[in-house]
Amino acid sequence: METNKTFTMIKPDAVAAGHIGAILDQIIKAGFTIKAMKYTYLTAQKAGEFYAVHQGRPFYNDLVSFMSSGPIVAAILEKDNAVADFRTLIGATDPTKADEGTIRKLFAKSIEANAVHGSDSDENAAIEGSFFFSGLEKF
Ligand code: PPS
Repeated sequence: METNKTFTMIKPDAVAAGHIGAILDQIIKAGFTIKAMKYTYLTAQKAGEFYAVHQGRPFYNDLVSFMSSGPIVAAILEKDNAVADFRTLIGATDPTKADEGTIRKLFAKSIEANAVHGSDSDENAAIEGSFFFSGLEKF
């Protein structure tokens, strides 16, 4: 089932580098509407839960440690074909492989400190949005 919402985080590297405004500008200019947004933190425990699907992979501990290293911005975005269009907007996981003009090409430092997260399916977009937002926050 294709829906019109996706979930994103602006990751600790991009927040620390002062890129929140520029990244939100790219997202809005690409036609996404911000339905919910918060400036927040992930504890190591919460980051571990969020990325539990990757538990056992070689980068899991580093990813959990990085994602709990500083503040993040979490948001639910709306647009037709939101999940796929947002993955196109942010570019490949590894910024050295990301297309020119994508958010990761512009702002990511490495495959770990890669500036933004984008849900990989409609099902995960709903799960991830509910991880950070509840009830009326998601309207
Ligand atoms: S996959 O196979 O498609 O599920 O994996 P991928 O989307 O490439 O990566 C999943 C998340 O793990 C992060 N990642 C890494 N972190 C640290 N080190 C390494 N080597 C590494 N490789 C992948 C990647 O940034 C993804 O995070 P999110 O938040 O989902 O973008």
